[in-house]
Amino acid sequence: MNEKKVVGEKAVEYVKDGMVVGLGTGSTAFYFITKLGELVQQGLSIKGVPTSKQTEKLASELGIPLVSFNEIEQIDLAVDGADEVDPELNLIKGGGGALLREKIIAKASKTFIVIADSHKNVDTLGFFPLPIEVVPYGFKMTMKHIRDLGSTTKLRQHQGNPFLTDNGNYIVDTSFQKIRQPKELEKNLNLIPGVVDSGLFVEMADAAITIIDKKLVTQV
Ligand code: 5RP
Repeated sequence: MNEKKVVGEKAVEYVKDGMVVGLGTGSTAFYFITKLGELVQQGLSIKGVPTSKQTEKLASELGIPLVSFNEIEQIDLAVDGADEVDPELNLIKGGGGALLREKIIAKASKTFIVIADSHKNVDTLGFFPLPIEVVPYGFKMTMKHIRDLGSTTKLRQHQGNPFLTDNGNYIVDTSFQKIRQPKELEKNLNLIPGVVDSGLFVEMADAAITIIDKKLVTQV
């Protein structure tokens, strides 16, 4: 079973005519957006708000009408993937480096649905390296302050240079091991000057469409 395709296509059932829809980033969101594109071709009328330049390109190629984030008051539904999902539906996101726009769009959405294959389900967040977006200025000092909270840090690279986000920032991949208090860690990270935001999405997801024991499950 292609789990990413199954959960991505299932999420399309939550999209209704006239909605403004937040479009996630990554290989699971790809299937959601592709299916949505098919429905748009068949007459579904929606407007999409992409969470990354990569998704903007994909949605445009599929003929999904897009709207600028600054032109809308609210997003009806956002659908996005995740790197880890815990039983309370707290998430680690940002494996693809799009965490900041993804978080802004999730926060602006009436309903935020996460789509996750079975490998993303964990008891406690933290096995997957937590990505943190930082401004380039003073990034070494910012990394030191992150380490002071008990983690290792690694500046993400792309073709021998620092990976640049769509916002022109860097990504630091960290390892906090088991993150037992994600809300507290998220707050502490955001208190560090130079940190833009982390890939911790705490109490944001309203539902998770996932696979458990080879069965499609929607958790709320
Ligand atoms: C991108 C993300 C993705 O949603 C996350 O990395 C999951 O990706 P995939 O669906 O390819 O496994 O947060 O910033």
